Amino acid sequence: MINPDLLLLRGSPFEALRELLDPLAPASGVEPALLTVGEPQHKPPQLMLDALRANEHLYGKYPPVNGTEELRQAITGWLTRRYSLPEGMITANANIAPVNGTKEALYMIAEVLTRRAGHNEAKPAILLPTPYYHVYHAAAVMAGAEPVFIPAGPETNFFPDLGAIDPSILERTAAFYLCTPANPQGTMASRAYLKEALALAREHDFTLVVDECYAEIYDVTPPTGILEICAEEGGRLDHVLAFHSLSKRSSAAGLRSGFCVGEASLIKTFLNLRNFSGAASPLPVCAAATALWNDEVHVLENRALYRQKFDIAEDILGGRFGFYRPEGGFFLWLDVGDGVAAARRLWTEAAVRVLPGRFLSVDGTDGHNPGDRYIRVALVAAAADTKEALTRLADSL
Ligand SMILES: Cc1ncc(COP(=O)(O)O)c(C=O)c1O
Repeated sequence: MINPDLLLLRGSPFEALRELLDPLAPASGVEPALLTVGEPQHKPPQLMLDALRANEHLYGKYPPVNGTEELRQAITGWLTRRYSLPEGMITANANIAPVNGTKEALYMIAEVLTRRAGHNEAKPAILLPTPYYHVYHAAAVMAGAEPVFIPAGPETNFFPDLGAIDPSILERTAAFYLCTPANPQGTMASRAYLKEALALAREHDFTLVVDECYAEIYDVTPPTGILEICAEEGGRLDHVLAFHSLSKRSSAAGLRSGFCVGEASLIKTFLNLRNFSGAASPLPVCAAATALWNDEVHVLENRALYRQKFDIAEDILGGRFGFYRPEGGFFLWLDVGDGVAAARRLWTEAAVRVLPGRFLSVDGTDGHNPGDRYIRVALVAAAADTKEALTRLADSL
């Protein structure tokens, strides 16, 4: 017997993309350019490799589920500096859970936040934006919740319209996944928006799950973090969990390291669950993560590389395809009229692989799919390769 909930999972957007493009031959005579996966191609910092090597003798040890004191302190120090938090607002040993990349953690946290519905009882709801990161949906389904998509279109800066959520849904909401800067659209939630979302969570007693994994990749203004709003509101962390990653900040997707910060009782329960599931980070990884959270130099350099690519993209695409510089993150979200047709054409005519927005979205109740008109373009390669690929993309479109 297999858990029937597995049948409710929506395939990953990359599976859908393979189905769309693999039967088609890419244009010949040029190297295919893969602008699909959000995997940074910049080199991870040497200090990460040095820390891994210096601690390799620790691979023989079982790691504690909450990482090391040094790591928790490094994360607390970084959060306090980055968001100008009052000293003592974050307690290293109560509010932080190191995780093996935020993907697994965003998935597993739904188990902590969701109560199984009794017989004949409506399921708890988990709210998520559409377009969305596919893991939020899988998390909701496998935790026994009903995933409720809230459209996030250009009229609301690509964030779900909080005023439009049905009150009967809010009554049974267990969690709300929000991503800022937003993947795929690259917009940032404003202070006012985050404040309203926090107030809603507290009023209706659900947890705001804020995915901030792109928080350190931005153009001009650092994205507001939910912890800043908590600080402004008096410093309490109840109803809040934020997720941060080294995958984008430090171009270290393979390290599998990030953390979750928030309400102490939730963190304690999450760590307890993680202990059962054996989700502790290896000690050399904790040491490398400590070195990375304590260093800003490599982050500034990394950010400058992305800015250079935003400049290149603006030169090539500015004024066309609804181009705007992403405020944060490293994706372009281009309005090409029909994203699926554009992806097919770009592959066959220019050997450029992009992700149709449709594969990141679901149809709304009105039958409209908010991703339909768009393609997502990942600016993760080196500047010269990005320039070449975007030129081919623009010529072909
Ligand atoms: C929106 C979003 N959240 C979370 C993640 C997971 O990142 P990681 O597991 O590498 O921390 C990604 C990765 O692409 C992402 O795009």
